[in-house]
Amino acid sequence: MSSLEIRPAAAADLPAITEIYEHAVRYGTATFELIAPDLAEMTRRFEVLTEGGFPYLVAAFEGGVVGYAYAGAYRPRPAYRFTVENSVYLQPAIHRRGIGMQLLQRLIAESEQRGFRQMIAVIGDSANAGSIGVHTRCGFQMIGTHPAVGFKFSRWLDTVMMQRALGEGAKTLPADNALR
Ligand SMILES: CC(C)(COP(=O)(O)OP(=O)(O)OC[C@H]1O[C@@H](n2cnc3c(N)ncnc32)[C@H](O)[C@@H]1OP(=O)(O)O)[C@@H](O)C(=O)NCCC(=O)NCCS
Repeated sequence: MSSLEIRPAAAADLPAITEIYEHAVRYGTATFELIAPDLAEMTRRFEVLTEGGFPYLVAAFEGGVVGYAYAGAYRPRPAYRFTVENSVYLQPAIHRRGIGMQLLQRLIAESEQRGFRQMIAVIGDSANAGSIGVHTRCGFQMIGTHPAVGFKFSRWLDTVMMQRALGEGAKTLPADNALR
């Protein structure tokens, strides 16, 4: 795995990211989107995240982008501002070679550096052993399952909530606590 590089995503990576996500939307249950967003929409989402100060990473392997991960606002209301929700997607051909875990570990570190205190994974489909497995390996705890909240490919789908403290978590107050 010597040529694997985890680095910040750039605009030039977005065609590959769009393709990876398109496959996940069309054939997978990890995401509850039903229509794959096009490059323009993926670019808009990328800009919102990066301009908002959230980390957005790619895994480059043998010259091509094979996966990506980002953190974004868990919920828009301001009291949630120290909590992020993460996403991680890989090309199917490259699963189970440790790349998802490396992306997620780096995303955790980058989120900690930015001062976020909790990371939440909302995992589509309780049968998604890969996602549950990689989050468990990265220190996430199982919070619980929302049964049958999604409907895709003609069947009901659960979401699985997992969570991990970042940095000092709730042990200390954030630096801007005087504001609220
Ligand atoms: C989930 C995903 C990112 C995992 O990435 P990956 O590179 O395949 O996983 P890794 O090789 O890093 O796995 C790390 C560990 O996670 C666990 N794991 C990964 N895949 C697993 C699976 N299918 N079943 C059980 N455990 C699994 C294992 O403990 C594994 O370590 P090991 O291989 O030494 O046993 C990848 O499978 C993917 O893109 N899936 C489709 C999209 C998706 O579900 N994204 C998550 C949205 S919340």
